[in-house]
This record gives sequence, structure tokens and C-alpha cells, in this order.
Amino acid sequence: MNRRHSFHSVKEPNADESGEPHRTIVLAVTGASGSILAVEMLRSLEADPRVGRIHLVVSPSALRVLAEETGASGRHELVEQLVGARSAKISLLAHEDIGASIASGSCPVDAMLVLPCSMGTLAGICHGMAGNLIERAADVCLKERRRLVLCVRETPLSLIHLNNMLTAAQAGATIFPVIPSFYNHPRTVADITRNYVHRILQHIGLPQPGAYQWGTAALAKDTK
Ligand SMILES: Cc1cc2nc3c(=O)[nH]c(=O)nc-3n(C[C@H](O)[C@H](O)[C@H](O)COP(=O)(O)O)c2cc1C
Repeated sequence: MNRRHSFHSVKEPNADESGEPHRTIVLAVTGASGSILAVEMLRSLEADPRVGRIHLVVSPSALRVLAEETGASGRHELVEQLVGARSAKISLLAHEDIGASIASGSCPVDAMLVLPCSMGTLAGICHGMAGNLIERAADVCLKERRRLVLCVRETPLSLIHLNNMLTAAQAGATIFPVIPSFYNHPRTVADITRNYVHRILQHIGLPQPGAYQWGTAALAKDTK
């Protein structure tokens, strides 16, 4: 029986307060600009009681960009550097370890996010290269028909980039470009970052309390 649609009222041991099984999420960080988005995502997933496990993979280029954009230095105690504390939920997996759990379809994963997703990793994923753990885990998501969200970032985009996005989308990935929204009137970079992360989490079935929702503000204005 599909456990998500079980009618049992008894809470399963591996379930959140609503009885849903805890989610397992892969967060892959690659060397595109926007590493603060990955930090915000990691913190949000860590704080979400519906998420039981986070497999974090950070490419060598992502470490370089993280250093540039956030001041994080190296792989040593990286989770502590990014989240501010140790976390029992987060396991940091080595980029080159193609023998890690998530390299196999037998490892249960609810969704994989590549945030930000470089054009290099996009190319590797859409051509099935599986040459490192990020590419392999993404390949597994596609073959197992699991949710794969590619938060691509580059500008301008070449024909190669556009074709690769099309190929990835046709294979089942969601292309979720790093593009901010402005209709929610963000005032700070933190507002933009939070809203973008909220949109991804909503997309994978983890809507966040306090997330901006178009229509509710307009409705409140209309009823004044
Ligand atoms: C500061 C910095 C910013 C970068 N920004 C981007 C970017 O926005 N998009 C992109 O595709 N590559 C960007 N790159 C280049 C990638 O890091 C590079 O292509 C790398 O090989 C990607 O490797 P990875 O996909 O394994 O992380 C950037 C590099 C640096 C140093």
C-alpha cells in the first residue's frame, strides 16, 4: 500500500506530525553564482520537521564560489559553516564518491535539488554523463522518475545552454532558473533569497509558513 495515502491514524515512527513519512532530500550545490540560495535552502530544509534527511553534495567549483560569495572556507566543517551548527539530519557526501548511497536507485529519495546549477553540471546531467556524484544522483532521479529540480544560472544563455535545458526538461527535470520575482515587493537580498527558496519548496510539496502568496495580499486590500 502507498504509505502516503494510508488511512491508519497511528503515527508511523518515521513520520511527521501529520503522519506523512519524513522526506529525504538531496541538495547538490554546483559552481554557479547564487551560493547564498543554497545556504538558505539548507537552513530551511534543516529547520523543516517534515524533512528527515538531507544528503548534501558540494562540487569543488561550488566551494570556490561559496568562498567568493559567502566567505565559507573549504570543506572542513562545511555544514557548521553554512548552517551555524552541527546537524544530525545533514550528511555531507563527497563529490567524487560514486559509491555513496544516493548513487543507487535503491536509496529512497523524494526530491533532488541542484541549487545553483552550473551550465557544466546541466550539460553533464542532460547527457547522462554520471561522472561524479551530483551527475550520477541526478541520473538516478531521472531513471527512477523522481523529482529533479535544476536551478540553472547563467546569463546570457547560449544555444547550447538552451538546448541542454530542453533536453533535461524532456527527460523529466524541472528547470527552475535563478530568477527573482518582484511582484512581492522585496526590499532586501534576504527577501529575494527567501522568496525564491520558498517557491522551490512549495514546488516539491513542502510549502513554508509565511511564504508569499499572490492573491492573499490583494484580497486583504479588496476587503478593507
Ligand atoms: C565566482 C564564479 C561564478 C561563476 N558563476 C557561474 C554561473 O553563474 N553559471 C555557470 O554556469 N558557471 C559559473 N561559474 C563557472 C563554473 O564554476 C565552472 O564552469 C565549473 O566548472 C562548474 O563546475 P561544477 O558544475 O562541477 O560545479 C562561475 C565561476 C566562478 C569562479
